[in-house]
Amino acid sequence: MKILLLGAGGFIGVNMVERLLKDGAHDITAVDIEKTKLEELGALSNPRMTYLRLDIRRDNNALEEEVKKADVVVDLVAFANPALYVSDPLGTFQLNFIENLKIVDYCVKHQKRIVQFSTCEVYGVTAASVIGKDPKDMPCPFVEDETFLIMGPINAHRWIYASAKQLLERVLHAYGLQEGLNWSIIRPFNFIGPRIDYLPSEAAGNPRVFSHFMNALLYGTPMKLVDGGCNFRAYTYIDDAVDCIVRILENKGGVCDRQIFNIGKPDNELTIKELAYLMKEVFDEHFREEGDPEPEIVDVSAEEFYGKGYQDCDRRIADISKARTLLGWNPQYGTREVVYKTMEYFVDRFREKQRAAAAAPASANA
Ligand SMILES: NC(=O)c1ccc[n+]([C@@H]2O[C@H](COP(=O)([O-])OP(=O)(O)OC[C@H]3O[C@@H](n4cnc5c(N)ncnc54)[C@H](O)[C@@H]3O)[C@@H](O)[C@H]2O)c1
Repeated sequence: MKILLLGAGGFIGVNMVERLLKDGAHDITAVDIEKTKLEELGALSNPRMTYLRLDIRRDNNALEEEVKKADVVVDLVAFANPALYVSDPLGTFQLNFIENLKIVDYCVKHQKRIVQFSTCEVYGVTAASVIGKDPKDMPCPFVEDETFLIMGPINAHRWIYASAKQLLERVLHAYGLQEGLNWSIIRPFNFIGPRIDYLPSEAAGNPRVFSHFMNALLYGTPMKLVDGGCNFRAYTYIDDAVDCIVRILENKGGVCDRQIFNIGKPDNELTIKELAYLMKEVFDEHFREEGDPEPEIVDVSAEEFYGKGYQDCDRRIADISKARTLLGWNPQYGTREVVYKTMEYFVDRFREKQRAAAAAPASANA
């Protein structure tokens, strides 16, 4: 199968490339404006992968040609970081809806199957929180084809991310009904693992929470709990996620045709505050070395951390019975293991940098 992977240089993309190249069963055209992670993986010289530096905002003709040649198009391109939804809501809408819609249109025109990455944030907040109940007191698994999608008010403009993704899902569904488009939609529930974001002390920007906490453990910045860190997440290890994604791509027996899939690990649920303490514990037990900082854990308001217009999804529990039943998929990694393995990736890179820095003056003197 010829897979066109748009956004292949990002966190999910590069982990998919690693797995697909290991399987060796498919050919990949990897499109992204970034290639550092693909380079680090050694994928650029693999004969089963072609990298194209195309920008989906402007390289329209080249993109359409690539869509024509593909058997399946996988679209991962998006601004996928809450800090950006707040600082650049229009840019988020433009890329995550308008530019992605163009890809959908090429797939309609050339009758190609598309696997579109959406988000668990399309579910918005829980019904419990809307009626003033504590989400902990009401079971609230999100079911793909049943659950109502509840967004916050317009002035909480972070919802533009989820709204853009939701509208794209609705357009795909409508194209399926009216133009015969074959689509599958993936709603990721907080994937983490190697090659997730950068550390903020090493590059400008505001990455996702795990990277912030990791930065605290390695560089001594405070672990900031936004609004007390009371909101829940259930982290999914990237290898589990990729295993499910590959099954969706391969689509044996057409079981994924015009289906939406939650990909998550519901029993990995914890609050952001619990994540902070767990990360400290795992770091102390397995990775701490003499001289490492002891970061403090502090509370900050969402406005202070993200700026005006932020609101969080209070609780996100995936119902994954569809993926279990149709794909025979069963996620394996528990929370502690997910934290350990992701942390190992960051710590290894950090220690390598430390060693290189320590060696530099010695070699300069030699
Ligand atoms: N990681 C998660 O847990 C998670 C959760 C929910 C949804 N998602 C969705 O999954 C998808 C992938 O997420 P990710 O975590 O890998 O994000 P990511 O930011 O790591 O990857 C996105 C990639 O898109 C590329 N890109 C951005 N603009 C581009 C452009 N104009 N042209 C070409 N490439 C461009 C980026 O360079 C980046 O490599 C996104 O659609 C995201 O919304 C991810």
